[in-house]
Amino acid sequence: MAELSGRVALVTGASRGIGAATARALAAAGAKVAVTDLAAPDALAAEIGGLARAQDVTSEADWAATMEWLRAEAGGLDILVNNAGLFLMKPLIETTLEEWQRLHRVNVEGVFLGTRAAIPLLAERAAKWPGGASVINLSSMAGLVGSAGAACYNASKGAVRLFTKGAALELAPSRIRVNSVHPGVIETAMGDEVVHGLSGLTGMGENEARSVANQLHPLGHMGQPQNVADAIVFLASDKAAFMTGSEVVVDGGATAG
Ligand SMILES: NC(=O)c1ccc[n+]([C@@H]2O[C@H](COP(=O)([O-])OP(=O)(O)OC[C@H]3O[C@@H](n4cnc5c(N)ncnc54)[C@H](O)[C@@H]3O)[C@@H](O)[C@H]2O)c1
Repeated sequence: MAELSGRVALVTGASRGIGAATARALAAAGAKVAVTDLAAPDALAAEIGGLARAQDVTSEADWAATMEWLRAEAGGLDILVNNAGLFLMKPLIETTLEEWQRLHRVNVEGVFLGTRAAIPLLAERAAKWPGGASVINLSSMAGLVGSAGAACYNASKGAVRLFTKGAALELAPSRIRVNSVHPGVIETAMGDEVVHGLSGLTGMGENEARSVANQLHPLGHMGQPQNVADAIVFLASDKAAFMTGSEVVVDGGATAG
């Protein structure tokens, strides 16, 4: 039997990048996967035999409706991947309050709203599985160490890191495990934004900035969405049954030194 067979998973921000790779990987491991994004990822849902819905993670009403939809269409929820996120690289002095607030609404409030909304459904079925239910929050290596030009993003991903630990302690008696994942620079649209931001901040060309971004990682290159998806499938599975409140770093060694 596949390791996640019988489970229902929800991945937010799943239209592309890490979210899409995660949805495919969870489905390949046997889960029924619901995918959401600002526009419903219908083609992805059709490809993986899952369900799709439009959802803005900053909307409390959208979270309530998504939970009702999961109960009606999939019978519940076992795995929540809070993946939707925004990036910002800009000198602090040029950053507006609106930019800070928008970033935190998606990266931090979205994770809070999602985790809170999912508790009743996750708790209902947690006793069914040896490893209980699982919430996986996308933080970043930027949630572990600072980077010039990304202080606001650092703040948002650092918040996700500690929100995860507090929630893990609170939800452990309900057999809901909560862990964070900390990718290095991953080759997605957001990875391109990192390269572009680095180029803008330093004045180096995009090619040179891409080479610098590759060399940030001792393994010599940026990561692939699949690298992160593999760690998420592991955290969602019973193989991670004794892991909660932990930080899984998938950064090619970038923060090891
Ligand atoms: N790519 C990287 O280098 C990297 C590194 C570390 C962490 N991360 C984190 O991993 C996650 C996924 O990153 P990615 O590289 O796949 O990004 P991406 O930009 O390629 O995809 C993000 C997705 O989130 C969706 N989204 C944005 N705002 C939303 C909202 N309000 N409601 C619903 N969906 C929304 C977007 O539409 C998009 O499909 C993010 O949380 C990101 O911060 C990425």
